[in-house]
Amino acid sequence: MTIIAGPAARALASLSPSQVRFIRRLPKAELHAHLNGSIPLAILQELAQSYSPPSADGQIGVSNDTVQAGLEKLRNGVTIEAIGDFFGLFPAIYALTSTPEAIARATRGVLDAFFQVDDGDEEPECTYLELRTTPRSTETMSREVYLRTVLSVTSSYSHSLPPLPESIAHGSTRRRISVIASLDRRMSVEVMEEIVDIAIRLKDEGLGLAGVDLCGDPNKGNVEEWKHIFEKARIGGLGITLHIAETLENSPEETLKLLSYKPDRLGHATFLDEEARKIVMENQTCIEICLTSNLLCKTATDLDSHHIRHWLKQQHPLAICTDDILPFRNSLTAEYALLFAKQPLGLGLTEDEVRTIAEMSLDSRFLD
Ligand code: IMP
Ligand code: ZN
Repeated sequence: MTIIAGPAARALASLSPSQVRFIRRLPKAELHAHLNGSIPLAILQELAQSYSPPSADGQIGVSNDTVQAGLEKLRNGVTIEAIGDFFGLFPAIYALTSTPEAIARATRGVLDAFFQVDDGDEEPECTYLELRTTPRSTETMSREVYLRTVLSVTSSYSHSLPPLPESIAHGSTRRRISVIASLDRRMSVEVMEEIVDIAIRLKDEGLGLAGVDLCGDPNKGNVEEWKHIFEKARIGGLGITLHIAETLENSPEETLKLLSYKPDRLGHATFLDEEARKIVMENQTCIEICLTSNLLCKTATDLDSHHIRHWLKQQHPLAICTDDILPFRNSLTAEYALLFAKQPLGLGLTEDEVRTIAEMSLDSRFLD
């Protein structure tokens, strides 16, 4: 059961039952959800019960106390004042998802959050999901085993769901869940290259690996070093999405460099200057919009001044997404409620406008 709180919950609570039904029935794609940021708290608590800190080379891993303190923070609701408050949540989560069995359990929990139909709901949260995750190598698994484990869960889960309606399957896929391999800005170039090689191989095996992402602390890493990596991914047939211009500290030069990688989609794209906006417009590059994430991370002050307003005016391709439902305590339905609710709780869009945005999300999928 997903816990919903904060601005998206308030927007959702302001809607009538028929408006909520309208959102729920809209076919839509969730294109920007991080696996380890989307695990239901109850699943992490379950994994914590059998957790014991691993020890390697005399070094003790994350202690039980640290894990419990991390879970306690997530249970109480996270306040993010600085970027470190957000990235500091992950060591405790990662400690709990560091074996193939645990990452498989966590993946099933995330898929249930997006596809399980609760009492009173007719439809799941989304029609189609692209779940992204950073392959980790641990004592018990390599990066390839990590990805194969996630893909084996997503493939069998996808097959257990009714197929996509023909009208939105676009003839090319009946798959309802795909996986994106994330490259973390804190990784070495060698590790990024390794992941892209694995991703291309898994894509070629038809396992539902659809693309690569650039994520992680936006203030880390050197964009000058990565162009060939994304070029290889593109030639290998993978879709490319990049977290870009996420904070004010990301320079216009860095943003232009990332755009030169020719991404298919952009995550956040909050602080694009005029030159960058022009390129994004010309290429019609879809922007993955994560409203709650931006509000809670304080990269947007309010909905009214949010950059979505600019792109809506241009009728630019957008996808409304959740980012990390665990710390942000949102859901895809609640993110759509932020579009639909009257101002100031939401953007006050009409049914037709909301429907068009949902269609855009489906059109922006990385298809096989
Ligand atoms: P994972 O890739 O499944 O391990 O999901 C968690 C990871 O996603 C985090 O460690 C971050 O690197 C990344 N992540 C989650 N949300 C954001 C975001 O808003 N910006 C950049 N990276 C993010
Ligand atoms: Zn993200």
